[in-house]
Amino acid sequence: MKKNMARLMSEQPLALEEDVFIRPKRLCEFIGQAKVIDKLSMFIKAAKSRDEPLDHTLFCGPPGLGKTTLAGVVAHEMGGELKTTTGPAISRTGDLAAILSSLKAKDVLFIDEIHRLSPQVEEVLYSAMEDFFLNIIIGKGPMARSIKLTLPKFTLIGATTKPTLLSAPLRGRFGIIEQLEYYSTDELAEILVRGASVLEVNLDEEAAMEIAKRSRGTPRIALRLLKRVRDIAEAKKESKVTVAIAKKALDLLGIDDDGIDDQERKLLDVIVNLFDGGPVGLSTLAAAMSEEERTVEEIYEPYLLRNGLIERTRGGRMATRKAYERLGIPYLRDGSLDGDNLTLF
Ligand SMILES: Nc1ncnc2c1ncn2[C@@H]1O[C@H](COP(=O)(O)OP(=O)(O)O)[C@@H](O)[C@H]1O
Ligand SMILES: [Mg+2]
Repeated sequence: MKKNMARLMSEQPLALEEDVFIRPKRLCEFIGQAKVIDKLSMFIKAAKSRDEPLDHTLFCGPPGLGKTTLAGVVAHEMGGELKTTTGPAISRTGDLAAILSSLKAKDVLFIDEIHRLSPQVEEVLYSAMEDFFLNIIIGKGPMARSIKLTLPKFTLIGATTKPTLLSAPLRGRFGIIEQLEYYSTDELAEILVRGASVLEVNLDEEAAMEIAKRSRGTPRIALRLLKRVRDIAEAKKESKVTVAIAKKALDLLGIDDDGIDDQERKLLDVIVNLFDGGPVGLSTLAAAMSEEERTVEEIYEPYLLRNGLIERTRGGRMATRKAYERLGIPYLRDGSLDGDNLTLF
């Protein structure tokens, strides 16, 4: 049983290398997401003054923007313990019952990827969220009994990268729903400076800005790049990360000015040069890249789509004018003939 619980959840999921030190612990240490933080501080203050747990909260947003971190911050501010699990890890209702019955008042139960809970598990969660009780059926057939267990007043924090996949009844049970946004370059630079001091990297401000610019608005990427830049600086026996060293290291890592990496550049190159700009279907594209469709769709495409370098059309993926400009190739598609080309007639 104990081992099983350990599989389902962990009290220290954040203890990855130095990560645990990098994560801010208090609301006032959290950089960026100002609107969300403002609201959360008011809600937390109000809940505390009423001596109640914070309402169940849902954080939506792309990976790496701080959803898990915020859950930890909320638990810390509320004076409870953070228990972490994920939607797909809770496969049976019994799993959820075990987790819920281990909670104490004020604890925060964090369910990552909450859109991936099974409908049966969701059903059990409803009464736990709404009325703080647990209705479980023990045994099977004529021997089955239902028992009702009262739960301590806890806060559920759900995180999802795909809010549209969340069922309406589950969504409706969250009192607070917040969408995290991509960070500005300045905010990322501030996160990097803080991260550098935790990692004991001597990073100058200009270098922080350079890494921030190439981090796609995402703290996780910024901090990952910082660690790799640190490694490269160390290998080159540089004691200080200056902008020149940061640039050199990022180039070596294949991260360009807009934060686009080698694989994404390859994808653009394949659409433009092999398929004449598209449209090209996902399966054909994946085959040409020697990758799985899912990898192309979930890892390589999103940032290119977000930046308007490719488009999804009914016929498949297409490179945009912006992509051609980036690659320095003239864009000569239908309807795009400009003044110079009209001399053909
Ligand atoms: N606002 C922030 N300030 C400082 N560090 C942050 C911030 N947001 C995220 N991070 C860092 O970025 C990394 C990813 O954050 P995380 O909370 O795991 O994102 P998510 O759960 O949304 O995928 C962590 O190392 C975390 O410390
Ligand atoms: Mg997370």
